[in-house]
Amino acid sequence: MSLLIKGGTVVTADQSFMADVYCVDGKIAKVGADLTVPGGTEVIDAAGQYVMPGGIDPHTHMQLPFMGTVASEDFYSGTAAGLAGGTTCIIDFVIPAPGTSLMSAFHQWREWAEKSVSDYAFHVAVTWWDESVAQDMETLVKEHGVNSFKHFMAYKGAIMADDEILVNSFSKAWDLGALPTVHAENGELVYQLQKKLLAMGITGPEGHPQSRPPEVEGEAANRAIRIAQALKTPVYLVHVSTEEALDSVTRARSEGQRVFGEVLAGHLLIDDSVYKNKDFDVAAAHVMSPPFRPKKAQDALWKGLQSGNLQTTATDHCCFCADQKAAGKDDFTKIPNGTGGVENRMEVLWNAGVNTGRLTMNEFVKVTSTNAAQIFNMYPRKGAIAEGSDADIVVWDPKGKKTISAKTHHQNVDYNIFEGMEVTGIPSHTISQGKLVYCNGKLNVVRGAGNYIKRPPFAPYFDAIGKMRDMDPPFSVDRDS
Ligand code: URP
Ligand code: ZN
Ligand code: ZN
Repeated sequence: MSLLIKGGTVVTADQSFMADVYCVDGKIAKVGADLTVPGGTEVIDAAGQYVMPGGIDPHTHMQLPFMGTVASEDFYSGTAAGLAGGTTCIIDFVIPAPGTSLMSAFHQWREWAEKSVSDYAFHVAVTWWDESVAQDMETLVKEHGVNSFKHFMAYKGAIMADDEILVNSFSKAWDLGALPTVHAENGELVYQLQKKLLAMGITGPEGHPQSRPPEVEGEAANRAIRIAQALKTPVYLVHVSTEEALDSVTRARSEGQRVFGEVLAGHLLIDDSVYKNKDFDVAAAHVMSPPFRPKKAQDALWKGLQSGNLQTTATDHCCFCADQKAAGKDDFTKIPNGTGGVENRMEVLWNAGVNTGRLTMNEFVKVTSTNAAQIFNMYPRKGAIAEGSDADIVVWDPKGKKTISAKTHHQNVDYNIFEGMEVTGIPSHTISQGKLVYCNGKLNVVRGAGNYIKRPPFAPYFDAIGKMRDMDPPFSVDRDS
């Protein structure tokens, strides 16, 4: 099975150059000018287009059981929608219910994900703590290719991780060479504010952002970062949405701490006016956590991305249809939290990032693919156009136009948060595992073709942190005093 992408400009995280890309048996076999290839090779004409590493969305929740329902997008439809948008790999989340085995949950998610049409990997959430959890973390890292663990600092009474869990889990993750990640919102504050708002008679979706003001995120972000600092572990903050959280990330990084920050395409482009919409369905469709923020937060987040203090972009793709959102018709705290976007992340970021000069094309590749591959230790298998890398590639038409709509998207959800947005710069072809799976609007995917990607522990930054720990170990005791 061979395929040649001919005459395009290859754009990677660090360079752009004219070259053909020849793929054989799922891998990139050769990158070079005017390649001669065997007869029978499928040829894609990429003249005038950019040939980039396929997108990696490091934050999705396909068919997640959550808030009394199950996300409408499953691993089949969700990964297919990703491919239609140039995203060739997702990292989804295994979320065990508190008190239940991480291993059982992992196997359950692996089974659900067997229908995926693109490659995928898993973070695993730590939602409770005892010795069996530590043991399961070890098994997951050593035998199952998991190298990142998620901690929800919100969702009190459900999956919230308190400080005891954070400290134990971050420490264990360090020992295993795994990266702790956090959803940074103070769950206690949210809970108390929700009660207060409901008691005041505020029951509609407008109560959602009011119960999660920026301080809620800023406090938790700073707490997670300082815990990581004390334990000398790296930490990755998912969906940074406020200046308060970004400031904590920026300050820690300027102090030399290994803190990574992710921003959602939605948080970069949509503001909190959506919650004032009189139509419950529209306002509820935007209920996600952290919520969309006032416009000025978007400027700060773009600057965070431009400055490199935020390294990855994601979607937190977690879809619920209007009939599911209706569970919170009389109580905003019961609206299932989540929005979609896996299909649109790359095009909205190109349109608002590259077309405006906020990002170079190479920076676009970094924040949509390469940085995630490096942070989560899949590089250069993923996130690169290089000989030996997986042939996960997007051919990008910088002049292609489209108007985003739920009527035409491939996502299995009845609303699109980017509805009506006109974008210039869209994928013309997506290649997954060396096969053409999307061509000018048409998907050609095979159920179950996606592979589970094992991610080894001890990404390169562990070595760097280790050297610093050797010089100044955590918990050293000053015996002279
Ligand atoms: O609202 C959201 N983000 N739902 C999915 C779960 C999470 O917090 O990431
Ligand atoms: Zn979250
Ligand atoms: Zn999430």
